[in-house]
Amino acid sequence: MEKREALYAGKAKSVYLTDDPDRLVLHFRDDTSAFDGQRVESLARKGMVNNTFNAFIMGKLQAAGIPTHFDSQLSDTECVVKRLDMIPVECVVRNIAAGGLVKRLGVEEGSELNPPTFELFLKNDALHDPMINESLAETFGWATPEQLARMKTLTFQVNDVLKRLFLDGGMLLVDYKLEFGVFKGEIVLGDEFSPDGCRLWDAKTREKMDKDRFRQGLGGVIEAYEEVGRRIGIDFG
Ligand code: CDP
Repeated sequence: MEKREALYAGKAKSVYLTDDPDRLVLHFRDDTSAFDGQRVESLARKGMVNNTFNAFIMGKLQAAGIPTHFDSQLSDTECVVKRLDMIPVECVVRNIAAGGLVKRLGVEEGSELNPPTFELFLKNDALHDPMINESLAETFGWATPEQLARMKTLTFQVNDVLKRLFLDGGMLLVDYKLEFGVFKGEIVLGDEFSPDGCRLWDAKTREKMDKDRFRQGLGGVIEAYEEVGRRIGIDFG
């Protein structure tokens, strides 16, 4: 497999074509962004840490029967993925109240959400990823009702697998965001799973171990990501 020209550069990853029309290369950069890209910083080792973390999690999800776009790791900072037609809708599950939910609804940060909530957001930085619903997604053609139902099922399956995985490492999976795409007619998990796109707290102290450390200027961002990885059995070399 040969890496070809760049297709797209996102806020933290760049995407490359390959000689296989069904495969892309994802390059995890050290760039870290927050607030819809208004704040960007380079954090040493982040690309390697998130690429390694993502490969490990995608492997766990795949083993649990959840279809993902992940194919193989290519280098420290790159992996090969299936080329999907991305659905521009972000799926968020919350087990514990934090972030946007606390701001929007005034609930107390840290309260347990039972049952866990499921929210949809439109992937659009210029509009600050507005919250949407199934009706809007259908009307505007972002996703069909069937696709949304499948995305919801898969997003909760991911919760079952990862809540347990992180709890076994002494951490709470507070919330997370997933993106999906279509590959040969099937809904498949795309993008990445890393501490950039979820919230993880130490189960005892409730210390933040995810991107909120960057958003809130708490420092020790990559050290926390590596600690999360170590606790679930990842060797960063
Ligand atoms: O992160 P923020 O407070 O802006 O929004 P949220 O709705 O509380 O985010 C819920 C979860 O989805 C968090 O784990 C975020 O890190 C993640 N998220 C993301 O990765 N990308 C987005 N564009 C929005 C949320």
